[in-house]
Amino acid sequence: MKLTIIGLGYVGLPLAIELSKNYSTFAYDIDRNRIEALKLGKDINNQFRKKDFIDLKNLNFTSKKEDLTNSDIFFITVPSPIKKNKSPNLSLIEKASYMISKIIKKNAIVVLESTVYPGVTRKIVGKIIEKNSGLKFLKDFNLAYSPERINPGDNKKNIKNIRKIIGASNKQTLNKVSKIYNSFLEEKIFKTESIEIAEAAKVIENTQRDVNIALINEFNKIFNSMSLDTNSILNAASTKWNFLNFKPGLVGGHCIGVDPYYLAFISRKFGTEPKMILSGREVNETVPKLILKKCISKLNKNKNLRVLFLGLTFKENCPDFRNSKAFDLLNLLKKYSKKIDIYDPFLNNLKKKYSQDFKVLKNIPNKRNFYDLVMIIVPHRMFVKININKYLSLIKEDGFIYDFKNILNNHKSIIKV
Ligand SMILES: NC(=O)c1ccc[n+]([C@@H]2O[C@H](COP(=O)([O-])OP(=O)(O)OC[C@H]3O[C@@H](n4cnc5c(N)ncnc54)[C@H](O)[C@@H]3O)[C@@H](O)[C@H]2O)c1
Repeated sequence: MKLTIIGLGYVGLPLAIELSKNYSTFAYDIDRNRIEALKLGKDINNQFRKKDFIDLKNLNFTSKKEDLTNSDIFFITVPSPIKKNKSPNLSLIEKASYMISKIIKKNAIVVLESTVYPGVTRKIVGKIIEKNSGLKFLKDFNLAYSPERINPGDNKKNIKNIRKIIGASNKQTLNKVSKIYNSFLEEKIFKTESIEIAEAAKVIENTQRDVNIALINEFNKIFNSMSLDTNSILNAASTKWNFLNFKPGLVGGHCIGVDPYYLAFISRKFGTEPKMILSGREVNETVPKLILKKCISKLNKNKNLRVLFLGLTFKENCPDFRNSKAFDLLNLLKKYSKKIDIYDPFLNNLKKKYSQDFKVLKNIPNKRNFYDLVMIIVPHRMFVKININKYLSLIKEDGFIYDFKNILNNHKSIIKV
């Protein structure tokens, strides 16, 4: 059996590694630099170290599509972003499907793992392959959908112990694909009745999370305007057994802040205006403005504020900063300060890109009474470990610390959410 993984990012690389422990696996990426680095055991996403690649004799990294001929199963794990107008950008999935159509053999299976709306596997992937390969869907090739549900930065939940759901175009395909995933899964697979049910399940998981966070962000806005402390209110409310424990948050990244637009898109196509989903998105998109307002209201806006901004990735303990809302906040902050120092222990390449507008630090500085505002935006483990007195020493006498994720104790100089 020959397996091929297309797209070796956060989702594709762990999958390729696990599958290669039992099957001959070809791991393909369009990005040649990524392939060259992986061949040397270098993963810029920091998910794996050199030693993790050593014993993987069946794993073949390649950027040549000719190497993928004769594959029995293709797994597509390419990104599924949105366009400027917030509609789904399926171009990468389409491109991967087209490539498969040119090399697919009879009786092969194509499994999509990328997050999509219900219908994409059959109506986009399947149709492209059928049109360009000359093979007939169901007769000559089959399809399956199995979403990845990893949570970046979470060490406990990983590719092996997260329960997988799989939908396929027929029972035989479902069983065959399940058997392959079972080669590394520790949890029982949940088999869905159709491909579309598996597609829909994934997109609602992330949409539900987005809407729940939006509700808490809206609570926060209300209580801010009433000068009531949101954290204290949430703590009190969580004493009820069925109160859902969400916190205010910046919803960035390429999943929670993106996937609801996929569902909204297909919802409209089928005649339902997605009111809750899009309101949630709108509320979450305005959080950077709310944070800025809260911080600036405490400070003298007329002076050129000296600011230390901590944390830029889209979430804590994860090197991924794509679509991070911390950058939106940083850009808004530029209006009030020309002296912004930024630091994130996960972003090694930051300097080149942002040094024009901000001073990029390599560590938390050893300065005393220096900043008007210290903003702890992303609560990386390293920031949580630092003693409150260190943070307090950084600010001027009339300065403040903005503690977005509530990692510090109460103090008169700390602005909480
Ligand atoms: N990152 C996560 O935590 C996560 C979790 C669950 C689901 N997902 C979903 O999984 C999918 C992949 O996400 P990701 O975070 O792994 O993306 P990523 O950006 O980390 O990696 C994607 C890789 O695909 C490659 N690629 C793009 N187009 C290609 C093509 N046509 N052929 C071959 N390679 C191509 C890119 O070069 C890149 O290396 C998305 O749909 C995403 O929504 C991601």
